[in-house]
Amino acid sequence: MDRKDAEERVKELRQLLDKYGYYYYVLDQPLVPDSEYDEKMQELMKLEEEFPELQSNDSPTVRVGGPPLVAFEKVQHEIPMMSLGNAFNEQDLYDFDRRVRQVTGDDVQYTCELKIDGLAVSLSYENGSFIQGATRGDGTTGEDITSNLKTVGSIPLRLQKAADIEVRGEVFMPKRSFENLNKDKEQAGEMLFANPRNAAAGSLRQLDPKIAARRNLDIFLYAIADDKGMGLKTHHEAIAYMKELGFKTNPESQLCQSIEEVVEYVNSWVDRRNDLMYEIDGIVIKVDNLKQQQELGYTAKSPRWAIAYKFPAEEKITTLTGITLSVGRTGVVTPTAELKAVKVAGTTVQRASLHNEDLIREKDIKIGDQVVVKKAGDIIPEVVRVLDDLREGHEKDFEMPSECPACGSELVRLEKEVALRCINPQCPAQMQEGLIHFVSRDAMNIDGLGEKVIQQLFTHQLVAGIADLYKLEKEELLKLERMGEKSVQNLLNAIEASKQNSLEKLIFGLGIRFVGSKAARTLAEHFKTMEQLRNASYDDLLAIHEVGEKMADSIVSYFDKPEAAALLDELDALGVNMKYKGPKKAEAASDSIFNGKTIVLTGTLEKLTRKEAKEKIEAFGGKVTGSVSKSTDLLIAGADAGSKLTKAKEYGVEIWEEDRFLEEAEL
Ligand code: IVH
Repeated sequence: MDRKDAEERVKELRQLLDKYGYYYYVLDQPLVPDSEYDEKMQELMKLEEEFPELQSNDSPTVRVGGPPLVAFEKVQHEIPMMSLGNAFNEQDLYDFDRRVRQVTGDDVQYTCELKIDGLAVSLSYENGSFIQGATRGDGTTGEDITSNLKTVGSIPLRLQKAADIEVRGEVFMPKRSFENLNKDKEQAGEMLFANPRNAAAGSLRQLDPKIAARRNLDIFLYAIADDKGMGLKTHHEAIAYMKELGFKTNPESQLCQSIEEVVEYVNSWVDRRNDLMYEIDGIVIKVDNLKQQQELGYTAKSPRWAIAYKFPAEEKITTLTGITLSVGRTGVVTPTAELKAVKVAGTTVQRASLHNEDLIREKDIKIGDQVVVKKAGDIIPEVVRVLDDLREGHEKDFEMPSECPACGSELVRLEKEVALRCINPQCPAQMQEGLIHFVSRDAMNIDGLGEKVIQQLFTHQLVAGIADLYKLEKEELLKLERMGEKSVQNLLNAIEASKQNSLEKLIFGLGIRFVGSKAARTLAEHFKTMEQLRNASYDDLLAIHEVGEKMADSIVSYFDKPEAAALLDELDALGVNMKYKGPKKAEAASDSIFNGKTIVLTGTLEKLTRKEAKEKIEAFGGKVTGSVSKSTDLLIAGADAGSKLTKAKEYGVEIWEEDRFLEEAEL
C-alpha cells in the first residue's frame, strides 16, 4: 500500500473504531462483535507502525497504553476543582433549600444526580481533541494522568465537534470489574483493594498506562468547567450538550421542581443503589439555573448552589456467636465479637473488635444476641447496637476474665485506662506479638517469618523471646511444618542479615510504647549507639524536639527494666548491630544489600522502568542479568511475571515484589 492509500485507510479505520468504541463504551450498545473491533484495531496498528508519520495522539491505538512514565507532572487548574458541602438528613436538605431561596427567590429548580464514588478528574479538549487529563489534587494543583485516562474506553479521544472545552467528571471502577480484579489479586497472592474507589484511584496512579488499560475503568461527566459563553441557560442543558459532544453522562439524573421532590428522589435511591453496576455514596443536588448559580456564588471551598447528600453507612443484622480475647504486644487484652458471616458494603464481615469491657457493658452485648453491624468509614467492621427486643432468653452475659487468657497471671487496669492489661513480662502471647512486631518490615525486616511460622516456633518451644531468634538452628527448623531445606536456609540468612541493620530498626523493633518508626529514627540519629540511648536520662530525652513527656517517660521506664537490660546485652553478645549507620540514601555501595549480588528483573514494574531499576542496582554495586540460574541471588518480580518466576522458585532464589525493591533502594 502506498502512503496516500495508507493515509486514507488510517482515517477510515479511526472513524470506524471511534464509532464502535462510542457505541460500546458510552452507549453500552455494541455495534459489532468484539472480534471485528480487534481486527480493525490490529490493522490500524500495523499501518501506524509501517507509516510512523501517520501516528497521532488521538488515534484509538493509544488506548492500549503508551510507554511507562517516571513521575506525574503537576497541572494547575485554572478553574479550581471544588468540593461540596454535605447533607446527612432531610433537615439539612430543607436548610439548603431555604438558604438558596433567600438569594434566588421561590422560582428554583434542582437537578439531582447520583454521587459517583470514584475519583474526580478534569479533561481538556482543544479543537475537539483530548489533550490533557488531570486529577483533582488539592483542587488547585493536580497531576497529569493523560496517558492513563486515554486507556478509559468511555473517554472520547475526539469529540463530535471541534470544540475547545474542559469538562469534569468521576472515573470509577464498576463493581463487577472490582470483584474480578480482587479475585485475580487473591490468586496471585497480592494485597486486595478495599473498595472500588481505591481500586480506581490505584489504577489511575499507575505509572505504566498498560496496567491502567487492563483495569476496566469507566467515567461519567457531570460538569463543564467554564460554561460561560456557550449560550447555555441551565445545568441540565449543559449535561445534554456534553452528551451531544460524545461524553458519557449519567442517565439517572432528574430535574426536580421543589425540595420535596428532591427528598423523594434521594429516598428512592437508598435501597436502589445496591442494584447499580457501580458504587454511589450519595446524591448531588444542584440549582439548575446557571444565572441563579452565579448569584449564589461560592464559599472558600464549595459552591453555594450545590450540596451532596450522603447516604448513611449500610447496616446489616447478624448473630454474635461469641466473644474471643487476644493479648497484644503491650499486654492489652482486647475482646473481639465473632459474627455469623454477613455481607456489608461489599465485603464479608465475620469479626469486629469490641475494644474493651466498658464498651461491651455500654452496648449491653450478650453472646447469642442479634446485632446491627456496619463498617465505619466503610472499612472497619463495628457492632452498632444490640436488638434486645429479639432476645429469646438463651443469650449469655460475657464476663471479662480476671486472668490473662494466655499466661494466667492477674490482669490489671492501669490508672486512667479502660483497657485490662497483662503485666507479666514473660507472657507468651505478648512475647509472640512482640516477636511479630520485631521481625516486621519497618522493624528488623526479617523475611520468611510470617505469623504462622512464629506461632509454630512458640508452640514447638523453639523460641520464648526475641533473642532466641538468633540462636535458631537448622535442624530444629527443618522439623517445622512446610519448612524445606531451602526456606530454612533463606530464613537463617535473613535472620543473619538483620544483625547488620542500622540502630533505628532495632529501637523500633523493641516495641517501646509510643516509639514509632519515625521516633526510632530520631533517637538513633541523636544518640548514635544503643549504649548512649540506654544511659539517656528523662531530661536528655525531653531535650530532643520530637520527644514529648509521654515518650520520654516510656523510654526511661523501658530501659529501667532488668528484662530489657538482659535482652539488649544478649542481642549485643549475639552480634546484633547496636550502632546508627547514617541515612540510607548516603550509604556507600559497599554497604548496600545489592552489592556483589546477581539480580534478575522480570514482569512489568509499575513504578519505574526496567532501565531505571537496572541503573539503580548497578549504582549499588549489583549486577543485572537476563536469565535465572543457580547463581542468581535475587529476582525482582513485577506484575505478570512468568517463567523466570517459576524458575526462581525452583532454584530457591530469593524473590522480591516491586514494593520491597523500592523500599530497599529507597526510591
Ligand atoms: S459536582 C464544585 N456532581 O463529589 C463541585 N460531583 O465533594 C462540583 N462527585 O470531588 C462537583 N459525583 O468528585 C459533582 N454528579 C456529581 C458527582 C460529584 C461524584 C464527586 C466529585 C467531587 C465530590 C464532591
